[in-house]
Amino acid sequence: MARTPLPMKPTGWFQVAWSAEIAVGAVHRMTYFGTEMIAWRSSAGRVTVMDAYCEHLGAHLGFGGTVDGEILRCPFHGWEWNQQGRNVCVPYEKHPNRGRRIRTYPVAEHSESVFIWFDEHRREPYFDVAEVLTGFDDDKSAADYYPAFGHTHLFRPGLEIHPQYVQENGVDFAHFTYVHDTPLVPEFTRHDFDAPVSYVDFTIAFDDVPAEEINSGVQAINSGIGVAATKSWGMIDNRTLTSVTPVDETTSDIRFTVWIGRKPGDDSPTPTSRALRNAAGVIEQFENDLHIWAHQRYSDPPALSPKEFEGFTAIRRWATQFYPDDFDATAAARADLTR
Ligand code: FES
Ligand SMILES: [Fe+2]
Repeated sequence: MARTPLPMKPTGWFQVAWSAEIAVGAVHRMTYFGTEMIAWRSSAGRVTVMDAYCEHLGAHLGFGGTVDGEILRCPFHGWEWNQQGRNVCVPYEKHPNRGRRIRTYPVAEHSESVFIWFDEHRREPYFDVAEVLTGFDDDKSAADYYPAFGHTHLFRPGLEIHPQYVQENGVDFAHFTYVHDTPLVPEFTRHDFDAPVSYVDFTIAFDDVPAEEINSGVQAINSGIGVAATKSWGMIDNRTLTSVTPVDETTSDIRFTVWIGRKPGDDSPTPTSRALRNAAGVIEQFENDLHIWAHQRYSDPPALSPKEFEGFTAIRRWATQFYPDDFDATAAARADLTR
């Protein structure tokens, strides 16, 4: 076991559920960033994520809390809390307790997923989480893909994986041969790590077939450190969403969602068996990565080859913006080795 020396409370957007897991009226319990939270969906369909404990006398709102229209009612004494975490009713008093507030987290919901913005300093979100089906520069929409949740998704809770390990995959050309058992050679055409949302594009070549002949590739949009969307184009038409959400100081929940392009003219509500087979292949490849990440020990400074130096240096520099200002990854990794 190798606990990560990297900070497990990075700033950014993180997936905390799939949308379908939180029905209207449902109160969903979860733990992220060492904090017990609940997510509930109002009658109008809006998801609120907040700390789990009632500010009155501390009942856990995920055990018996009820959604009533646009508010959440505590099971203990009936106090009502709104979507901003404000108390709006104390049923046996004339006035609510205006001073108390339950901590809420900014929520984004799209791509069949619910995301929260987490920041230790409670700053407001300063970038967006890209939509998987409409966020790439093309005319595709959700109608062009089979739905994913319930068919082509993978949930692996509680693995010793830091979000950065997954992002580093985006510059790691050498692992394809070994982890994915393919002679594929990615030819990177874009490495853009200038902003919190970064972009990696590559075209696919094989040892004996150049990229021009295959005319296929992958584009990735990394919305901060916790969420990565990909689009495969050319021979393959699929989209993926990889999410790594820290649970505590050692583990993360991993969610991987695959959308397969629809067969033209097929509007069935579920993927075809061929689409399911394709997605199973994509998920299997992802599990090969997971198997490495879940047992890897973060290496800093790493022993990079000359060809790897630029990409890894760029992505690691990019990652530091999501960590505390004084965080020194090399020192942390070294301290970890001597522990
Ligand atoms: S503890 Fe929630 S209303 Fe009393
Ligand atoms: Fe990989």
